[in-house]
Amino acid sequence: MTMLLSLLLLQAAPAAAANAMPGEEVVDPYTVDNRNAGATPFTGDGMAKAFHGQDGIRRIVDRMVDTNFADPAIGEIFANQDKVRLKRTIFEQFCYILNAGCAYTGRDMATAHKDMGVQKADMNRLVEILQRSMAAEGVGFQEQNRFLSKLAPMRRDVLQK
Ligand code: HEM
Repeated sequence: MTMLLSLLLLQAAPAAAANAMPGEEVVDPYTVDNRNAGATPFTGDGMAKAFHGQDGIRRIVDRMVDTNFADPAIGEIFANQDKVRLKRTIFEQFCYILNAGCAYTGRDMATAHKDMGVQKADMNRLVEILQRSMAAEGVGFQEQNRFLSKLAPMRRDVLQK
């Protein structure tokens, strides 16, 4: 009976919440799809190795997100946002694109940044913080730039129109 009940409850849970961590806020329903990540993954395991696998990616994302929240220039945009969800979804996105063995379950870039007012200077600042986070992990300069080129086309979805 208990088994049946938990099966029913599992089925009732929205797909978007499947990977949610404790402490995450609920977001409006959306369709989970790797295409929401905004870029196709690298092939092979070279990039995943350069980023020191999932552990390295986790360290980079945690450092980047913590720095974003504390930053005097862009911190304001992050204030009151869900840091737990952001760390999880950006980790998944980076891990998926780097072909390090993850699926991306977050929202697409246009939806996630809608009406946020992000300007070019904010974008440049975030990229600078990401570069410093990758350097702190010891990711090679060439691999850093290869990764940044995957993110570059997302600008048009992130920037305020
Ligand atoms: C290419 C650059 C960027 C990438 C790849 C990226 C990636 C992401 C991802 C994966 C999410 C989570 C989506 C979800 O919750 O389902 C997100 C949300 C968010 N991003 Fe970005 N982002 C970028 C640029 C920026 C910039 C420049 C800012 C501001 C300076 C920013 C601020 C935010 C904020 C505040 C959220 C939380 C939105 C919410 O929870 O409603 N992002 N971003």
